[in-house]
Amino acid sequence: MTIAPDRLDGARGQAAWTDARLLYALEEVVEKELNRHLKVAKEWMPHEYVPWSDGRNFDGVLDGEAWAPDQSKVTSIGRTALVVNLLTEDNLPSYHHEIATLFGRDGAWGTWVHRWTAEEGRHGIVMRDYLLTSRAVDPVELERFRMAHMSAGFESDNAHSMLHSVAYVAFQELATRISHRNTGRHSGDPVCDQMLARIANDENLHMVFYRNLLGAAFELAPDRTMCAVRDVVTGFRMPGHGMPGFERAAVQMALGGIYNLRIHHDDVLQPVLRHLKVLERGGLGPEGLAAQEELGAFLEGLDGQARRFDERQAAILARRAARG
Ligand SMILES: [Fe+2]
Ligand SMILES: [Fe+2]
Repeated sequence: MTIAPDRLDGARGQAAWTDARLLYALEEVVEKELNRHLKVAKEWMPHEYVPWSDGRNFDGVLDGEAWAPDQSKVTSIGRTALVVNLLTEDNLPSYHHEIATLFGRDGAWGTWVHRWTAEEGRHGIVMRDYLLTSRAVDPVELERFRMAHMSAGFESDNAHSMLHSVAYVAFQELATRISHRNTGRHSGDPVCDQMLARIANDENLHMVFYRNLLGAAFELAPDRTMCAVRDVVTGFRMPGHGMPGFERAAVQMALGGIYNLRIHHDDVLQPVLRHLKVLERGGLGPEGLAAQEELGAFLEGLDGQARRFDERQAAILARRAARG
């Protein structure tokens, strides 16, 4: 059952949209999107993507061969991005906690939360199996980074509002898709590329689920949803921001064309905002209108920053090429 906004209170129903009411009102949409997701998501087996016959024992308990950088078939930028992307997937227990707390574990919401968690779990499994079997990255450093990153946990920047959470994951799933896809393309290993392309397909379906949910939230509570989107877009940070060496890795990934301001603006923010017609949306109250204006101004500023980044990147890459 859907509660129409005008039945909640006089002034456009905005004030009355508590998280609990929104969860209840959106349950039907969650069920529809969950069923659509289950129909289109094809089962896939992580073990099929791992080159097991390339594997051998490591030093230590089994007295095998220690890892050395020359064993890796993956490019330097590919190694950096693979570690960042795997650590991001590894922090799944914290993300599960966030969305289970905000969305609940009952009904269609709970079914989605658990299904999503199971799918994300597959990503960490296949990536770790690939990295260790192919000796693509230092396994000791990877494990120490995982311990440090998971020990810090993850708390979203806009905690405690389910609309902020839905808006964040709509953009974040697309960001993850793009980051995995570009990492594969720059990895220098077709096996890695194939694995990350498969994961990227899942991330795309996750994005579609959350984007459609966000669209439904715009219909129910346009002002509150607009404010949440503004907050999330203007304060967006990737979930890996707390991991060891993230700042340096992020700079390398930006220069290497895996994830940077241009990609964030053109391939992550704009597609979701355009699809939901966020900047053209009418029927807003004063708060929603102000949020929409702020969002538009922020995107223009970001585009300018991205243009300056493009120029710097081109200059740095030209200098590197000249050095040979
Ligand atoms: Fe994932
Ligand atoms: Fe995902």
